[in-house]
Amino acid sequence: MLDNPTILFAVIFVSFLGAVIVLGIIGALVARLVTNFFGKNVPSDAAMKVFETAQAAANAKPGKALVITPQAEPFVIAGVGFIVVFILTSMFITPTSIKSETAAPPAAKAAVSLPVSGDFTKIVSELPKGDPDGGKKLFTSQGCIGCHSQEKDKRLVGPSFYGLWSRAATRKPNMGAKEYIYESIVAPNAFVVEGYQSGLMTPTFAKTLSSQDMADLLAWLERDHNEK
Ligand code: HEC
Repeated sequence: MLDNPTILFAVIFVSFLGAVIVLGIIGALVARLVTNFFGKNVPSDAAMKVFETAQAAANAKPGKALVITPQAEPFVIAGVGFIVVFILTSMFITPTSIKSETAAPPAAKAAVSLPVSGDFTKIVSELPKGDPDGGKKLFTSQGCIGCHSQEKDKRLVGPSFYGLWSRAATRKPNMGAKEYIYESIVAPNAFVVEGYQSGLMTPTFAKTLSSQDMADLLAWLERDHNEK
């Protein structure tokens, strides 16, 4: 969704707007506090006298008449306070932090991993409907092809997928083909095929494959590697 530049722009724009509104509220609160404080501390007659002297001196110098009156001080301080708060806050709300916040959903998706233990009958029954052609592509793109051949008895690093589906049901007691293959992919060392070494198959498919990928791979193996 955030790949869409319009939506991304809208998200950034709304975040920015929100930040401006929050800053406005903080600024107003600070201004009020400061005004209240100075309201209770009305300049004394002596202070006014000092100011009037300063004003008179300033007026005497041509072109230099700006003196801040004691009454205006709270507003000036509030204004400066607002600018300081704005700068400090904008240092934290940089475009990068907005970007990483908006990039969070895809990261969260990657963090969801396939269950590696539990009731496999239930787990496989909850997978989405698989697409065998998608599974065939994953066989190549996920690198299974580097370790598993599809020809009868052709041994690469791992066993051939030829006849895998029909063989799978006999591998572990109480486990059907689908459950066994699922487990072999997410937890390769749960059962090590005789004559092969444990620890060779990539152990991270539970994290890198989505449940749709898994469903597609299973559908492909069921369709194309059910040879007797
Ligand atoms: C780095 C090599 C390697 C890669 C990549 C690999 N495997 Fe394996 N695989 C093996 C080895 C070695 C075994 C046998 C040892 C074992 O059972 O753990 C095996 C076993 C299996 C088994 C059990 C086979 C049987 O006859 O019981 C299945 C199913 C399987 N892999 C599926 C896959 C799938 C699907 C992929 C890609 C998503 C994949 N493997 C990627 C090396 C690999």
